[in-house]
Amino acid sequence: MGRGRFEIAQGTQWRGGENLRFWPQKRWKKILLTIFLVILFVGVAIVGYLEYSVYREISAPIEVLNADGAKTALLIYHPGLTDFAKNVSYSFANGLADAGWRVEIATSSAHAPTDLSKYSLLVLGWPIYDFNPGPTITNHIQRIGNLNGIDTVVLVIAGGMDPWNAEGNMNRIVQDANGTLVRTLQAFRGGNAWETMYEEASKITP
Ligand SMILES: Cc1cc2nc3c(=O)[nH]c(=O)nc-3n(C[C@H](O)[C@H](O)[C@H](O)COP(=O)(O)O)c2cc1C
Repeated sequence: MGRGRFEIAQGTQWRGGENLRFWPQKRWKKILLTIFLVILFVGVAIVGYLEYSVYREISAPIEVLNADGAKTALLIYHPGLTDFAKNVSYSFANGLADAGWRVEIATSSAHAPTDLSKYSLLVLGWPIYDFNPGPTITNHIQRIGNLNGIDTVVLVIAGGMDPWNAEGNMNRIVQDANGTLVRTLQAFRGGNAWETMYEEASKITP
């Protein structure tokens, strides 16, 4: 008797996924579904890694241009994978400095200033990597809390498209935080972005 029970148990096979409703019975469907699931998991992992690597916070010491400027502007930017975002940001900062501003430049990290009381202008720039406002910039706005009406310039740095209206969404985030939006500028690759940034900044007088 004991032997019989053992034989029954031994003869029982586990048929993987048989009781799962979504798991198909036909072999070719199983293969297709397996391929689809593998591609899905690998895709999610790659997108997650890209999102993490391109939008991880990068700390850098605050740099000051034109230390004796009449008023102080704070420029916070997210550095991109290449130096394009940095060059765009520094072109804008140089334009402000030549217009008479003292300019403090920080990267968007926990080390960037959160007390804006000594600043008269805030500039926020980030490269678009996922059609949306840059998370390190929006995190920093949250750290600041209330922008208390400070004049704010938004620099949208990108390859040349903004299908989900990242620009409009960032503008709204600034206004919702009580910032006064004075200008939004696009710096797209391929044009003369640096010169345009410099010229636009030099029109803003302290
Ligand atoms: C993963 C990834 C996603 C991107 N998504 C966009 C996008 O949605 N719109 C756009 O105009 N540019 C997009 N770009 C281009 C960057 O915004 C553009 O190259 C910009 O200069 C960023 O600086 P970088 O070249 O240093 O990465 C993307 C680039 C990468 C690598």
